[in-house]
Amino acid sequence: MRHLISPLDLSVEELEHILTLGERIMKNPEKYAHVCEGKKLATLFYEPSTRTRLSFEAAMLNLGGKVLGFSSADSSSASKGESVADTIRVISSYADICAMRHPKEGAPTVAAMYSEIPVINAGDGGHNHPTQTLTDLITIKILTGRLDNLTIGMCGDLKFGRTVHSLINAMVRYPNVRFILISPNELTIPDYLRAEVLDAGNIDYVETNQLEQYMPELDILYMTRVQRERFFNEEDYIRLKDSFILDASKLQYARKDMYILHPLPRVNEISTEVDNDPRAVYFKQAKYGVYVRMALIMNLLGLDQDTGL
Ligand code: NCD
Repeated sequence: MRHLISPLDLSVEELEHILTLGERIMKNPEKYAHVCEGKKLATLFYEPSTRTRLSFEAAMLNLGGKVLGFSSADSSSASKGESVADTIRVISSYADICAMRHPKEGAPTVAAMYSEIPVINAGDGGHNHPTQTLTDLITIKILTGRLDNLTIGMCGDLKFGRTVHSLINAMVRYPNVRFILISPNELTIPDYLRAEVLDAGNIDYVETNQLEQYMPELDILYMTRVQRERFFNEEDYIRLKDSFILDASKLQYARKDMYILHPLPRVNEISTEVDNDPRAVYFKQAKYGVYVRMALIMNLLGLDQDTGL
């Protein structure tokens, strides 16, 4: 049995297979409409979510399966003090696969240890968010036709943004990928990522607080929200929240073929005037997320083997 806890749980080949399957599903969704008939997905969300939970549910429903679950810790037995280990042991007999989001780093890893069904990490604290990474990768691949030879700007909250951490971990495995890491000094990437992933892998990267200066070099601009819920105090959040706001005037420095991604939800960091720019692809990205989650569910349930699908 397989789980997806970190983006590195998938080899580059497996990733390629899932992305390709996601693209195939996108082109011909009817063909996959019954693949998961009789199967159930449990969504165990101990932390708020709109897109991730609903995109998982949409993915399973599109495959002909059923969904069950809860959308906040308050509405689950966690509020009575039940452990993740006990919850997952019970859910294992109610569903065939589960997606878990939890405010504590490592909670899905613990769940996987006790689970009898595949566990998908749908975001654990400020740590990882591998299915957002699948969404980001399929978007980049569809739009640019490649995952190598890219200069990727990541802007905003690089300290607490789990989507940033997972995307860096996944992208360093492709040749000639360069990162421009744009953030206020207080919100730079965690030390372990800098030391163990970027420096150790000899990856080309720049850390800066200048967006405009690097804009002309970027193939991808990955904007992120300042993660209010992970701050220790509100004053710091208020001081930092509007550090970078992408608007039309800043975009004039960007290449015509650059793409702007954002995991969403957006707060202030992209002005709504940017939404109509053809380079703004964040809503398209959210749509691609459903197809790649369909591919992932099929893969973890072993339903993509030997069926010609
Ligand atoms: C992200 C998350 O939850 O980490 N959202 C998402 O899953 N699409 C990004 C965020 O909340 O800022």
